[in-house]
Amino acid sequence: MSALFAPDSDAMQRALALLADMSFEEKLGQMNQVNGDGGHISGDLAQAIREGRVGSVINEVNPDIIVQLQRIAVHESRCGIPLLIGRDVIHGFKTIFPIPLGLASSWCPDTIESAARISALEASEIGINWTFSPMIDICRDPRWGRVAECFGEDPVLCSTLAVAMVKGYQTDDLASQGAIAACAKHFVGYGASESGRDYNTTNISEHDLRNVHMPSFHAASNNNVATFMTSFSDVNGEPVSANKWLLTDVLKDEWHFGGLVVSDWASVHQLTVHGIAGCDRHAAELAINAGVDMEMVSATFISYGHQLIHENKVQQQRIDQAVARILAVKFALGLFDQGVTNLPAPKHNLAAHLDASRVCAEKSCVLLKNQSHTLPLNTDKLNSVALLGMLADDDYEQLGTWIFDGDITRSCTLHQGLRNVLPDHVAINYHKVFDNTRDCDTKHIPDAITLASASDAVIVCVGEEAILSGEAHCRAELGLPGAQQQLINALSEHLSSKGVPLILVVMAGRPLAIESAVQQVDALLYAWHPGSMGGAAIANLLVGNAVPSGKLPITFPRKVGQIPIYHSVKPGGRPVNRDNFVHMDAFPMRAEQTSLGMSSSHMDTDFTPLFPFGFGLSYTHFAYHDVILDNLLLHTGDTLGVSLAVTNQGHVAGDEVVQLYIRDHVASATRPVRELKAFQRVSLQPGETQRVKFHLPADELAFFDARGKRCLEPGTFTLWVGGDSNAALCADFELVGEVA
Ligand code: NOJ
Repeated sequence: MSALFAPDSDAMQRALALLADMSFEEKLGQMNQVNGDGGHISGDLAQAIREGRVGSVINEVNPDIIVQLQRIAVHESRCGIPLLIGRDVIHGFKTIFPIPLGLASSWCPDTIESAARISALEASEIGINWTFSPMIDICRDPRWGRVAECFGEDPVLCSTLAVAMVKGYQTDDLASQGAIAACAKHFVGYGASESGRDYNTTNISEHDLRNVHMPSFHAASNNNVATFMTSFSDVNGEPVSANKWLLTDVLKDEWHFGGLVVSDWASVHQLTVHGIAGCDRHAAELAINAGVDMEMVSATFISYGHQLIHENKVQQQRIDQAVARILAVKFALGLFDQGVTNLPAPKHNLAAHLDASRVCAEKSCVLLKNQSHTLPLNTDKLNSVALLGMLADDDYEQLGTWIFDGDITRSCTLHQGLRNVLPDHVAINYHKVFDNTRDCDTKHIPDAITLASASDAVIVCVGEEAILSGEAHCRAELGLPGAQQQLINALSEHLSSKGVPLILVVMAGRPLAIESAVQQVDALLYAWHPGSMGGAAIANLLVGNAVPSGKLPITFPRKVGQIPIYHSVKPGGRPVNRDNFVHMDAFPMRAEQTSLGMSSSHMDTDFTPLFPFGFGLSYTHFAYHDVILDNLLLHTGDTLGVSLAVTNQGHVAGDEVVQLYIRDHVASATRPVRELKAFQRVSLQPGETQRVKFHLPADELAFFDARGKRCLEPGTFTLWVGGDSNAALCADFELVGEVA
């Protein structure tokens, strides 16, 4: 239950008092969000605001225009209600941070909170008071372009990071200067779009909705997120914008979410396209009654609200509830108390923001391979480095998706970053090789080989430019686009006998299925789209000024056909393992068709992922030992204390993300073979051992059964601790007591 908008909260009390003075038209106006006019104010927009027909404006980023809009709303409309000024501030505003999937690779709530804090400061300076972030959809399908925007596959990781991001935007006092309202989106299940194709249908059992897709939203609701956005998709045959069970029964009644629910862009009108509303009037009726409080841009509420009340299709009380929620958010933001003044010139500390962007990017890069300690580069022994690939020197493409307001003049590319960290005598032989990552023209590959052959180390930077991920940018193939794999083939062939290390840096908006490339290179650093200071961060990591610590928030498939592949898979009746897996090459001709001894796998690829969830290397090595449970017989209501030792066995200091997984062996519903339950980031000096402690309330062993009922059942559990989802160190414990 969020306290901020509780019925007795100051914000809600003031909202109700104001509501009593409003006309029906003015109430409908609050439920209407319109698109800005783009740097000016048309007569129509000014008049609509004056007449109280607009509650929020989206996509206006000219600070002078925003002040004028607020002035009209506050001084020229009858009720003087300020506007919510909404914008997609997703991974930064002017200063860009790594894409959310990259941020999630830090497994560091503090880092994510600080990125959100800076984003809010920069956005609020120009008058924005509402961001449509965090995006906390669970996604297990890297074909979906919006995987870039999410925190990955796991509900516990996503919930923790969601709460941190909301806190960063909103702070502990939403009314304080520089705080903006956050938006938990897209409620719910959008990440399960069939075949990873955006806007596609989703079919999710209540078991999966509640165990997998809902926890991050529930956590955001419990932690005062001011707003929710509905998903574009239908879930089990009902589009969310018309889904009363999800928006009212679960979100508002069961979870007691007290803020406002906004539709996604025109998703109310799109109910007619989904084919569940015959016309816009019908769409408005379904959405309002389902629990949508504010409509984003399609204007069906304002157009038909009056008629719907007149025809008794919508109750006045429902309109009052919606408007009270909207006004409460405005009161909680302090908009009524701040008054409209000209915005001062932006005054944020640019150097500090860039530094934060660099730190985030350093923590977000994941070292996936480092054969024979190829990295960090020993700069003393280098005279030249070949740097290949257009992504290594492009100030825009490294920023990633959702960077409407990003300032490319703040970008530091990998080329610039390397120049800054390499000694002057080390030459950087750069060639972009391709015009873009989709380029199939191989004409520059011979030049690249010539440069590589004349260098002491080769860094090849490949991946996807920004437009290949994000909303509506889904892919059916997950290999490197264009001729980039051919470049790697050629480099690997020419360098294999020469002892010149081949280092792959990947910038991409999603996990790519790059099994061959992984085998061909000596080292692989996965940088996602790393944001403004990505180049500086990657350069620091390559030369050892920073030590990699990122861990994958999503499983990497070897092949597209393995999708969905994730760590918390169910065992099934015939689980695959090394002993029962048969690759198709092993079948003799005319082998008899039999299912005896067969297991759940694809016969044309190994059953394991390319890289497992939670995986990421460091320049040091961490050993896990001495796991101790303080209680082997846990009762409901108890908290299990787990402690374990982690030792840094290497020669450099490093951060490790210690992960705790469990398995519930027998339950009334099938349970995953492993589920993440907790994690902690620790810093260890060389040789240092630390005891890491976790506290696991028995209540967190509960799950939702096939009918969506919450169950806490006695039985045996295994717990693993380690540095990824294949952690080996384990212990068993029992949960005892009655089934609850
Ligand atoms: C559509 C997207 O789905 C949503 O995430 C975004 O916030 C809105 N458009 C507003 O731009």
